[in-house]
Amino acid sequence: MNEEQLDALIKRPKIELHTHIEGMAPPAFIRGLAQEKNVDLSKIFREDGSYDYRDFVHFLSVYEAATSVLTGPEEFARLTSAVLEQAAANDVVYIESFISPDFCGGSDLTAWKEYLHAIQDAAAVAERDLGITLRGIATPIRHFGPEKAKPAALCAAETAGEFITGLGMGGDENQGQQRDFAYSFDMAREAGLHLTTHAGEWRGPQEVREAVEDLGVSRIGHGVRASEDLAVVDMLIERDITLEVCPGSNVFLGVYDSLDKHPIEKLRDRGVKVTVSTDDPPFFHTTMRKEYADLARVFGWDGEIFDQIDKNAVDAAFCDADTKARIR
Ligand code: ADE
Ligand code: ZN
Repeated sequence: MNEEQLDALIKRPKIELHTHIEGMAPPAFIRGLAQEKNVDLSKIFREDGSYDYRDFVHFLSVYEAATSVLTGPEEFARLTSAVLEQAAANDVVYIESFISPDFCGGSDLTAWKEYLHAIQDAAAVAERDLGITLRGIATPIRHFGPEKAKPAALCAAETAGEFITGLGMGGDENQGQQRDFAYSFDMAREAGLHLTTHAGEWRGPQEVREAVEDLGVSRIGHGVRASEDLAVVDMLIERDITLEVCPGSNVFLGVYDSLDKHPIEKLRDRGVKVTVSTDDPPFFHTTMRKEYADLARVFGWDGEIFDQIDKNAVDAAFCDADTKARIR
């Protein structure tokens, strides 16, 4: 592939299914808010201005420290504008983002609705000006525990509709079990929400099986460690489960030493529906253009393979049929 072809490949319109709205916050944006509010966040930044953390658990605490300056709907509106501008600059035309009721008013329904209004107003401006569509997946945080997930899921259920289209779960996969959250996922399913959960990022294939069997999700956040058990891989194929794969995130956090050791190609080759996302792009020094460029370089992915990846993403997107028809 020559330079021109590679350039066209990485600048194609993209669909992104797995991002965390707070995790997309540019470090300068968070630093600016901290200064405005007189909060000392110097510990979470390196000298070069990037986020500073040692490992996954420390990443989660730095993430929560950064999120602590997003204290109201207005901050989330500004955040939404900033992150959609970044995504649109990477040719993303449709993006789904995890939005946590815990970080948006402490899972209080009245507050949650105010945050959602502010986020949706900012998203409408970005859709008009930049041609990018945002949908939200309400997201309990696993290490906050199953009891805290219930009011978060209730917020999701009460606001299910055109914008909040799903329930997801992020946070520390090493805490508790997927089934501990079945009550919350059942509530969301009954409200008509689509379901996804982080699984198989840190724990092995059994965690992926449990996510599917105990929570009934149709997509899995990451799911890459399913690759260690072919029976689980084949279960994903049989049940038509789509993986929200975030290769750059996995390499940066040390799940895999380098992209050439990442199982995305093996999973795709066997027939699993994989998609590509950035997760928390500034935390992992990545962008959608970089993800596409790296996959083309390391695995030789060409236009035909990216067509399939994009089709997988549209098929598995949590939006309605009209929106799918528009972005396809
Ligand atoms: N929250 C933000 N990023 C995450 C990740 N990669 N895994 C789990 N929870 C997260
Ligand atoms: Zn994630």
